[in-house]
Amino acid sequence: MSAEATYTVAIAGLGKRGMHHADAFAANPRFKIVGLADIDAARAEAAGQKFGDAFTSTDAADMLANTKPDIFCFCTLPHIRLPLIQAGVDAGVELIAYEKPVATSTNEALEMMKLLRDAGVKSVVSHQHRYGEHYRKVKEIIASGAIGRVHTVYAHATGWMLHMMTHLIDYASWYNDYADAEWVVGQADGIEKFSDNHPSPDYISALIQFKNGVRGVIECGDGAPDVPEVDYWWRKARIGAQGTEGFAEVLTGGGWRAITRDSNGVISGPGSMDYSLDMPPYIQDIANWLDDPAQVHPCNGETAFKGFEIMMAACRSVVQRGKVMLPLGPGEPELDALKAVLPSPTAQPN
Ligand SMILES: NC(=O)c1ccc[n+]([C@@H]2O[C@H](COP(=O)([O-])OP(=O)(O)OC[C@H]3O[C@@H](n4cnc5c(N)ncnc54)[C@H](O)[C@@H]3O)[C@@H](O)[C@H]2O)c1
Repeated sequence: MSAEATYTVAIAGLGKRGMHHADAFAANPRFKIVGLADIDAARAEAAGQKFGDAFTSTDAADMLANTKPDIFCFCTLPHIRLPLIQAGVDAGVELIAYEKPVATSTNEALEMMKLLRDAGVKSVVSHQHRYGEHYRKVKEIIASGAIGRVHTVYAHATGWMLHMMTHLIDYASWYNDYADAEWVVGQADGIEKFSDNHPSPDYISALIQFKNGVRGVIECGDGAPDVPEVDYWWRKARIGAQGTEGFAEVLTGGGWRAITRDSNGVISGPGSMDYSLDMPPYIQDIANWLDDPAQVHPCNGETAFKGFEIMMAACRSVVQRGKVMLPLGPGEPELDALKAVLPSPTAQPN
């Protein structure tokens, strides 16, 4: 479509992230919100009042049938993915924008990708932290060659797997030019967080062999290193790259720092993850991609799926042991399999 087109948007799931998306779509003249749905009628009603004359419903499929939008956006908790992808594809939308993580199992993600690919529907997954000025500065330093040949990318966060791990993998992979992964070795610990609405092992780590020879090191959850420079617990995340002549890394809540070939000691700068700064360009890039198929969204679903596969490969490695080769085929649902093999606290020796 032309750069003047206005794209219609229908949004399902109007909690914290749904409202962030609605705010950003509403603030951008390239979009018009035509539908709002939440199974919680009060939330749908409140959003309807905030965003004017949009159709509101407690049922996403009903909203889609009544509004026929260009874009379907959904921001539900991780266990609700495949039925909403199906609903968007059935409604004939051009693009589906949804929240991370991609899914809760490889089987589900493979079905989702098949539906999207067969129907030619674009998808975008919200790994929007990468728009932060400090995230982009680190990318710029690495891409300039200032740290030499990158041999290692790394990322860790204290938040648990289904909240944080695909963010970490996505940004570490970005710093490695999104090279494909060849294999993953994983280890995990603790079952307490399986009862959370982002069910996860309490701790998980992944060693990644990328096809370009770079090593990836990812850790998240209880036991991942602290980032003492950052006070806000959810932003205690560190993502970076080491090269033959230096390193560059971002602290999600604490700017960036680097040592480069030409720097005289450590150089650093500001930046802190901020939805109000990261959402507008993330949303604008949706219009850019719909305007011009060559302007592929940085958070496109195919890339997100590759990161999701790395996370699931780490889970499979805990269960099966050893290296798990990529890409993954269907298999035992990873979260159930993982929960079954991890020792419960009562089973552990004193
Ligand atoms: N990208 C980020 O930075 C970021 C930050 C926080 C959360 N998230 C992700 O966003 C997602 C949503 O998290 P949240 O904190 O907004 O959750 P939330 O609980 O605040 O909101 C979810 C909403 O979805 C509604 N809902 C559930 N099933 C529905 C259905 N079938 N149709 C329509 N509405 C439905 C619920 O009633 C609720 O209002 C999660 O996957 C989470 O991991 C991403």
